[in-house]
Amino acid sequence: MARVLIIGAGGVGQVVAHKCAQVPDVFESICLASRTKSKCDAIAKQISRPIETAQVNADNVSETVKLITTFKPELVINVALPYQDLAIMDACLETGTHYLDTANYEPRDTAKFEYSWQWAYQDKFREKGLMALLGSGFDPGVTNVYTAYLAKHYLDEIEYLDIVDVNGGDHGKPFATNFNPEINIREVTAPCRHFENGAFVETAPMSQKSRFNCPDNVGEYTIYRMYHEELESLTKHFPSIKKAQFWMSFSENYINHLQVLQNVGMTRIDEVEYQGQKIVPLQFLKAVLPNPGDLGKTTKGRTCIGNIARGKKDGKDVGYYIYNICDHEACFSEVGSQAISYTTGVPAMIGAMMMLTGKWKGEGVFNMEQMDPDPFMEKLNIHGLPWRVVESGSLCWNPEE
Ligand SMILES: NC(=O)c1ccc[n+]([C@@H]2O[C@H](COP(=O)([O-])OP(=O)(O)OC[C@H]3O[C@@H](n4cnc5c(N)ncnc54)[C@H](OP(=O)(O)O)[C@@H]3O)[C@@H](O)[C@H]2O)c1
Repeated sequence: MARVLIIGAGGVGQVVAHKCAQVPDVFESICLASRTKSKCDAIAKQISRPIETAQVNADNVSETVKLITTFKPELVINVALPYQDLAIMDACLETGTHYLDTANYEPRDTAKFEYSWQWAYQDKFREKGLMALLGSGFDPGVTNVYTAYLAKHYLDEIEYLDIVDVNGGDHGKPFATNFNPEINIREVTAPCRHFENGAFVETAPMSQKSRFNCPDNVGEYTIYRMYHEELESLTKHFPSIKKAQFWMSFSENYINHLQVLQNVGMTRIDEVEYQGQKIVPLQFLKAVLPNPGDLGKTTKGRTCIGNIARGKKDGKDVGYYIYNICDHEACFSEVGSQAISYTTGVPAMIGAMMMLTGKWKGEGVFNMEQMDPDPFMEKLNIHGLPWRVVESGSLCWNPEE
């Protein structure tokens, strides 16, 4: 039984708080802290068990240290924004607390996704005998564990890896993002990078697309190749991979809106002068877009996220597709959130559970695929994200087309 501090009371933080509260045997005491305490209090009210709440500006290491010293958690679950990762890691090091997050660190002034900053904490966490688990959401997160699971049980060598993230949901709004708009738009408008023959290859954003037919009648969607952070760690930890790509579905409506916003400069992340004040257009845009945490009420449909891994087993060519399908309305009736927040928050809770029950142990900084996938995969089935494995030959999609 353990004490856990959750930082960030947005769409994902709400799910993590609900899901941790559902497992009192592991999460004995929970504190939910964020920049705006009223958001923590509103979430705490939805939960039948008492949970503590607190205000913290996690950009400020000494504020987080003070909170950790008062609440004394064994683990901090960071579901604030990627900008806070390093500051929260520093607070964990100072207080001797384990760390978990769902997205890699990004500097505010460059939309650059890479693990270098957090991997550089390896020795500091190891020397203190602490564990930092990086990227315990769905993608990254479950997609890393899926890869490790297929590598352990289905293939001797993975040669081709395609991660396909389809959101077949409709929120009924003209334009909205599924998670934090600022982070989402930075990710989508960044140059695409995929891994091929030992190196990352850069192409223009959204320049490669394909159609993907999801199983179980989720439907057929247009998917776009883009860069996603798990490609960096997976190609490092599975060196047999010759080509790795990440694909995400977007509607024509989303792409059209995004193009207009880009054309008029609203996705810029540098400061502009407006009426004597400096503002960042993308941050202003976030302020006027729908809050993803509020989309649950109106979102219908299902997500379908999975990995296609092809390679060799006993010298023969084989391929498998492993995936989860998640229903937006079912998520909303369970925890009051849509499936994007749910599919991120559940793995964050399970990653925390792995660490707190000692199923996953380590000293240093780890990506999910470095751990034994089996206990995590077992918990996915129990806590709301069941998965299936099928032969990839059954899919009507060839990533090489
Ligand atoms: N791996 C995955 O599959 C995956 C998928 C989706 C999202 N994510 C990640 O999950 C995280 C949360 O996403 P979300 O959609 O829940 O975002 P969100 O709704 O915008 O919530 C972010 C929360 O963090 C709080 N926050 C921001 N800056 C803070 C600071 N300096 N100190 C304390 N709290 C601060 C915000 O407070 P305010 O309310 O005061 O603004 C808000 O409550 C992001 O890092 C995102 O990249 C991962």
